[in-house]
Amino acid sequence: MTASALRRKFIEFFVSKGHAEIPSASVVPENDPSVLFTTAGMHPLVPFLMGETHPSGNRLTDSQKCIRTGDIDEVGDATHLTFFEMLGNWSLGDYFKEDSIRWSYEFLTSTEWLAISPNHLAVSVFAGDDDAPFDEEAYNLWIQLGVPDARIAKLGKDDNWWPAGGKHTGPQGPDTEIFYWTGEEEAPEKFDPENNLWVEIWNNVFMQFYKGDDGVLTPLAQRNVDTGMGLERTAAILQGKASVYETELFQPILTEISTISGNPEETVEVMRALYIISDHIRAATMMISDGVRPSNKDQGYILRRLIRRAVRQMLKISGEHKDLTSIVHMTIGTLEDGYPELRTNQGEITDEIQKEAQKFATSLNKGLREVEKLYEKKGQLSGTDAFDLYQTFGFPLELTEEIAREHGQSVDHAAFEAEFKKHQETSRDGSGEKFAGGLVDHSAESTRLHTATHLLHQALRTVLGDHVEQRGSNITRERLRFDFSHGEKMTPEQIEEVERIVNEQIGSDLPIHHELLTVEEAKARGAIGLFEDKYAQMGGKIKVYFIGDFSSEICGGPHVERTSELGGFKIKKEEASSAGVRRIKAILG
Ligand code: ALA
Repeated sequence: MTASALRRKFIEFFVSKGHAEIPSASVVPENDPSVLFTTAGMHPLVPFLMGETHPSGNRLTDSQKCIRTGDIDEVGDATHLTFFEMLGNWSLGDYFKEDSIRWSYEFLTSTEWLAISPNHLAVSVFAGDDDAPFDEEAYNLWIQLGVPDARIAKLGKDDNWWPAGGKHTGPQGPDTEIFYWTGEEEAPEKFDPENNLWVEIWNNVFMQFYKGDDGVLTPLAQRNVDTGMGLERTAAILQGKASVYETELFQPILTEISTISGNPEETVEVMRALYIISDHIRAATMMISDGVRPSNKDQGYILRRLIRRAVRQMLKISGEHKDLTSIVHMTIGTLEDGYPELRTNQGEITDEIQKEAQKFATSLNKGLREVEKLYEKKGQLSGTDAFDLYQTFGFPLELTEEIAREHGQSVDHAAFEAEFKKHQETSRDGSGEKFAGGLVDHSAESTRLHTATHLLHQALRTVLGDHVEQRGSNITRERLRFDFSHGEKMTPEQIEEVERIVNEQIGSDLPIHHELLTVEEAKARGAIGLFEDKYAQMGGKIKVYFIGDFSSEICGGPHVERTSELGGFKIKKEEASSAGVRRIKAILG
């Protein structure tokens, strides 16, 4: 079954169960500055999951365009895609677990629909923990449908709770996931979620709780169902293909890339490059069609990175720069069935990709000249030079190494990595998700503003209360921007008080240091911040920055050494950012 046919069947099935089909929202969230892209089908529906009335009713179904950028570095394996579609069905306070589970099973196994053998299926349900009970109802429903106990895994919040991660506030609840056996052998009797031949294809979330800022779960008045099925992955599985790249969605694009790069031998490295190029051009095509343009910030920055990475991979397998037009056209061909607007926007999409690719090619050429100059001057390249080349010209390390090899030399990897890490740590601030792996400025100005952000965070908690948590942070050389959970506009007196407290800490010339602590130790010492922050994790410990006795916060750093380095702190603006989230912009004088 093709992906298009699967999409049609899914929607048709849920329409037959009284659902209204709604169009996919844009890949760029309309009213949510806290994330760059729509990452799940439920994302554009949050206001309705919270109780607002949806104009199409309380049973909805769609195929939502999603972008997940956290996985960029994993693209090229069998399952991670930057752009993908999520099929979903929703109950907004209407049906709940029974219909949801029954219909999922019917759609998957009925000969009228997907006709999957029940022997190929397994499920997981929420096992229960200290603050929410075992989802016995879901378990019993699966048993009633004939799923054997051995094929039902009971798992904790990391696996069977949405949103996953445990930090999120808002509507949430247990979920039940459905897995498909992809092995060649007979499916084992017992379901082992650790065995990756069992692949998750569908997630049914039962939003029955609301988690407040105090972390307490209270039952929701409106109980919702939110489900998600990855279209590409499920289509591949139904076709018996080992990966999405073997489906009709990718095959024509891969062939085109291979052809224009001169049909290189299909080594593992070349295949990975082909996958990366096809994935990135697909994602870039969808982003541009939804209005994103290459730039140095936010969505535009991700788009730029995707195009540049595709250009680089193309150069790697072709040995020279290639025109990407025919790859873009082929990509549109594989997607236009679901998204006819792509054909209408074809000229613009191709132009934007070509323009950016060209710019990057020119920059790479400039980088090449710079390398030659460095060699003439110093006779060798240091790790720091390699990083500067990367930073200024987008010049990839492999390329610098290749040139060094031609000179009979090597590049100091450790020094390059150290520079890279230093940079990443600064860029992580609050925007780990937004700029995963991204490069933003780590000047002295930004470092000072970064430390000021910690002072501001703590001062806000002192003045407004402990419900204040970071929701986002963005720092340029000129100002800091800090988003935090707080339900109402701050009064002028509160703003003044926060400013006064921050300036008091600056005036006290507090020393700043960091320690590596276990999660328990960090909690015991009152550390605030994101416990899952990956840039702050090192060898099983997390990095906590202490500013005198005033603030302790999980963070990758770096920071200044003493608060007196900051100068005067001034809040320029306090405004709404999204529901329940305020935004402050501030500067240092
Ligand atoms: N929102 C759920 C998910 O993305 C269905 O897995």
